[in-house]
Amino acid sequence: MEGFSREDILTVIKESEKSDIGKKDLNSRALENKIVGELFFEPSTRTKLSFESAIKQLEGRVIGFSEAENSSIAKGETFEDTIRVIENYCDLIILRHPEKGKAEKTSEISSVPIINAGDGSNEHPTQALLDLYSIKRFQNKIDGLKVGLVGDLKYGRTIHSLVLGLRNFDVDLRLISPEELGLPERYKSKIDGKLSYQETRDFNIEDLDVIYMTRIQKERFTSPHEYNKFKGVYRLEKGDAEKMKDETCIMHPLPRIDEISKDLDSSKHAKYFEQARNAVPVRKAILKIILGDQNE
Ligand code: NCD
Repeated sequence: MEGFSREDILTVIKESEKSDIGKKDLNSRALENKIVGELFFEPSTRTKLSFESAIKQLEGRVIGFSEAENSSIAKGETFEDTIRVIENYCDLIILRHPEKGKAEKTSEISSVPIINAGDGSNEHPTQALLDLYSIKRFQNKIDGLKVGLVGDLKYGRTIHSLVLGLRNFDVDLRLISPEELGLPERYKSKIDGKLSYQETRDFNIEDLDVIYMTRIQKERFTSPHEYNKFKGVYRLEKGDAEKMKDETCIMHPLPRIDEISKDLDSSKHAKYFEQARNAVPVRKAILKIILGDQNE
């Protein structure tokens, strides 16, 4: 997300508005004759399927695998060789990989564009773009909001990308986490002086416009014991809705484990499923910007 300026983000938001379901461009043929490769080396539901829905709505086609065990990597082929082969079969690659920086490294060896669909505990930029689009839709603006990011700020890649996106806006950020799971220094150094933020363990939500909950990233911990220390540390319950401002929205990149009680799903504050829905128009916009016919 670091390379995204405020203008870039606003362009994606504008394109996403045009791509949104119900709008006339639903049946755009921007990806007609295009083949998109999806390489997922980590589990995914929303990212993979919303990309596929976006590609299909734009008349594109998808190839790929989501289990490296079913590819020649299982026979010992290197990742680099795999990319050099697959780049011949498609116009763009969407990559999710457990290694930090893998998408960027891959873009250096690939002749086709690479979209980072999550690189370990580093970043998840397309999620940040859909989160920013969602905030804009839910609150009608991004500037001037008080945004609370809650949970695993150390390993949560959606947090890292969102923080880098938000630094282009005039927001007041509250980073709520256990001390051990705070936002890493490399991201803090990038928001220092750009936006006002406060780090705290306290789960005070009364004055927030956006409460962005996250899952403790179990798969990034070295032992179950370490994970269990933090599991369930922040939880929104039904009664918490009464503490919130009228217009407060609760967001979550999903999957949720126990961070948000199911009782809250019917509350007017609960926006996480609508947020997941927004993945499609935003990913359509991203694909169109990268691959679509500029004149369309
Ligand atoms: C997130 C991810 O994969 O980083 N999920 C998603 O893409 N919506 C969040 C998570 O796994 O906790």
